[in-house]
Amino acid sequence: MRIDIISSIPEIFDSFLLKGIVGRAVSNGIVEVVIHNLRDYTDDPHLSIDDYPFGGGPGMVLKPEPIFKAVESIKNDIGSPDVKVIFLTPQGEVFNQQKANELSKMENIILLCGRYKGVDERVREALVDEEISIGDYVLSGGEIPALVLIDSIIRLIPGVMGNYDSAKSDSFQNDYLDYPHYTRPENFRGMTVPDILLSGNHAKIDEWRKKKSLERTLRRRKDLISE
Ligand SMILES: C[S@@+](CC[C@H](N)C(=O)[O-])C[C@H]1O[C@@H](n2cnc3c(N)ncnc32)[C@H](O)[C@@H]1O
Repeated sequence: MRIDIISSIPEIFDSFLLKGIVGRAVSNGIVEVVIHNLRDYTDDPHLSIDDYPFGGGPGMVLKPEPIFKAVESIKNDIGSPDVKVIFLTPQGEVFNQQKANELSKMENIILLCGRYKGVDERVREALVDEEISIGDYVLSGGEIPALVLIDSIIRLIPGVMGNYDSAKSDSFQNDYLDYPHYTRPENFRGMTVPDILLSGNHAKIDEWRKKKSLERTLRRRKDLISE
């Protein structure tokens, strides 16, 4: 999979792409993440990418020209005009695990990070295929939402996690929250591990985990369980 990200602060992605599960997926070549500095696509002599809003009012708006140029250049490089362009915006559809699964199966995606008041509306009308929000709050830029998307997408690509079953048993992969986990020591400050997990009886352990998962979901997120 190849993910292209258009940003006005590309440095934000540097350390993230070097470490952890995402860093390993990148260095193993399972996924390619290409970061584009929006300023590299402006013809403005001062490398300006934003301007005042028509009609007045507070805040600046990202200009259409550099964004169009960036998207056209990326599509040209990939060799396909059909690559999905996703704009990160608080006005988009709220991101969830189902969307992460769907996007993890794509060959290419382009993520566009907004800043200031957002992007010129013509970008949304003519370039953007989908708008995604990471929740009902407003951040100062689309970079953190883009990081949220790529982290959740990349860990779902087969071969990225050492144990793929681990990702499949996480919260939201089905209608339930994950079950409780314990590791060594068996007794930590008087708090002990449930006996069943030490029993070696895998059928019983599975049963216990399903029960805990259901109990936890009913207590915390009853809305997840389909009728
Ligand atoms: C200050 S926000 C602009 C908010 C915009 N004026 C509005 O009210 O819809 C700047 C940029 O941050 C990003 N952003 C902020 N909050 C976000 C969220 N919850 N989900 C996704 N992107 C977000 C978007 O790319 C947005 O263009």
